[in-house]
Amino acid sequence: MDQLFAGYAFLIAFFFALIVVIMVYSAVVFRRKKGDDEPGTNVHGNSVLEVIWTIVPLGIVLFLSGVGAVYLAETMEPEVDEMVVKVTAAQWSWRFDYPEYGLSSSELILPKDRQVLFVFESLDVIHSFWVPEFRLKQDIVPGITTSLRLKPTLTGSYTLRCAELCGLNHDYMLAPVRVMEPADFDAWVTSRTELSPLSPAERGKQLAELNGCVGCHTADGSSSVGPTWLGLYGSEETLTDGTTIVVDEAQLLQSILDPNAQIIEGFLPDLMPMGFGDTFTQAELEDLIAYIKSLSG
Ligand code: CUA
Repeated sequence: MDQLFAGYAFLIAFFFALIVVIMVYSAVVFRRKKGDDEPGTNVHGNSVLEVIWTIVPLGIVLFLSGVGAVYLAETMEPEVDEMVVKVTAAQWSWRFDYPEYGLSSSELILPKDRQVLFVFESLDVIHSFWVPEFRLKQDIVPGITTSLRLKPTLTGSYTLRCAELCGLNHDYMLAPVRVMEPADFDAWVTSRTELSPLSPAERGKQLAELNGCVGCHTADGSSSVGPTWLGLYGSEETLTDGTTIVVDEAQLLQSILDPNAQIIEGFLPDLMPMGFGDTFTQAELEDLIAYIKSLSG
């Protein structure tokens, strides 16, 4: 990939320089001289030149696409022990499901030297999966399942970025990526699958991370698409219709189930997805509210 990229960069630089040098030279040397009011020479084209400047670039482009296709086919060749990771993109969050281990995560954790098959789905608009260090990029299109294979060969921390303009918070649609030694990965899986008794607020936090709530609602007081959850419970808020409310549990529940019923001043309606009443069970809604309450001291 890097060789191909370097090849492209070299060719682009070469042709850019060639064209710009000739253009600037012509503009300077052949400019109209003072007092020269004669019409210029009429040039009717040059078949030989035209054929050359069509065939040569066409040949180069076809050659490069051939090399690209070979590399891509090599990367997409399945290996026997590949691990499937289901990636769900939504405005503006990422969710990673590991069917093999029955666990979900808001961080992308991968073992080193094991091939991964990413299966992508979007819940709303087009997003794009892009970890620059992985070199590959894949669009995630609603209604279509796309996929990508890769094998991380270096441990480290990276960042997944959405590479398709997908709305207001597109530039914050990030997720941490960690490539670990296989033993560390196994330890991570164990830590995630072992039954650890979580408090309702801790469960609520996990639900908020896995279902994209945190894409619009921060827990640290910083402003985003939706109201921050820090200190929201119990606070006095002015609604867009001018009335003032004190946020209580009933208010939070209503805002999750029917987001447009009441909008806090300074925020826009119709941004929060409807249908969270189907996403969450009653118990999960209670956990979420417990989490939001826990952010109010
Ligand atoms: Cu998702 Cu940009």
